[in-house]
Amino acid sequence: MTGRTGSTTGLVASEPPAETWPAGRGGRVTMRRTNEQDRGALRAMVDGLSRESRYFRFLTGGRVVDEIVDALAGPAPGSLALVVVAPDAQGTPAIVASAEYVVTGRVAEFAVVVADGWQGQGLGRRLITRLRDHARAAGLRAMRGDVLSENRRMLAILRDLGFSSRRNPEDSFLHEVSMTLREEAGSGQWLPADWFGAY
Ligand SMILES: CC(C)(COP(=O)(O)OP(=O)(O)OC[C@H]1O[C@@H](n2cnc3c(N)ncnc32)[C@H](O)[C@@H]1OP(=O)(O)O)[C@@H](O)C(=O)NCCC(=O)NCCS
Repeated sequence: MTGRTGSTTGLVASEPPAETWPAGRGGRVTMRRTNEQDRGALRAMVDGLSRESRYFRFLTGGRVVDEIVDALAGPAPGSLALVVVAPDAQGTPAIVASAEYVVTGRVAEFAVVVADGWQGQGLGRRLITRLRDHARAAGLRAMRGDVLSENRRMLAILRDLGFSSRRNPEDSFLHEVSMTLREEAGSGQWLPADWFGAY
């Protein structure tokens, strides 16, 4: 892919190139930016999630509304939405993971989900790393997200990647995770590490 990505910071980040690597049963997967043609495949991926995965990502065990899925295919300017595509059993390309950040102020609010059958193969970690690298290149100040406190896997991955986490003081079911991307004079740390621990 070519081109430049607009940014609310006035800086621009290079368009993330598509990336392909071996994964699954002898196949290859591709990570790339989403486009409007992905709506149907994103809908299918979201509808195919287990109740737990849907709850962890969208905080609902029921149907995820179209507006949310559509926003994954067509994110706001300055935001970034990525998918991982892999051939299904019939060899047809299917979306097997989705990740995005939305810019609020100069902070990238991010979330990620991997289809159940593809979890534990490094897709989530790779997507989060790519979001972080892109947000940093775009000149954003920090990344943050809300993770359900019971979501041990996500919290472990984020801590391993260097995110701080703390229990949300207003909602004990949630952890707030964050990472400073760019130190600015007088701003200090975006969120101090939680010395009381996240677990
Ligand atoms: C959380 C999620 C995004 C992670 O993506 P993934 O592709 O499954 O994860 P990865 O394969 O990249 O990494 C898995 C890591 O978690 C670790 N892990 C797995 N289960 C774990 C557990 N119960 N507790 C702690 N760590 C765990 C593994 O050891 C692995 O670490 P390693 O890479 O050092 O071996 C994915 O599982 C998912 O979509 N879950 C449902 C939706 C969700 O929770 N989204 C996050 C909402 S903010």
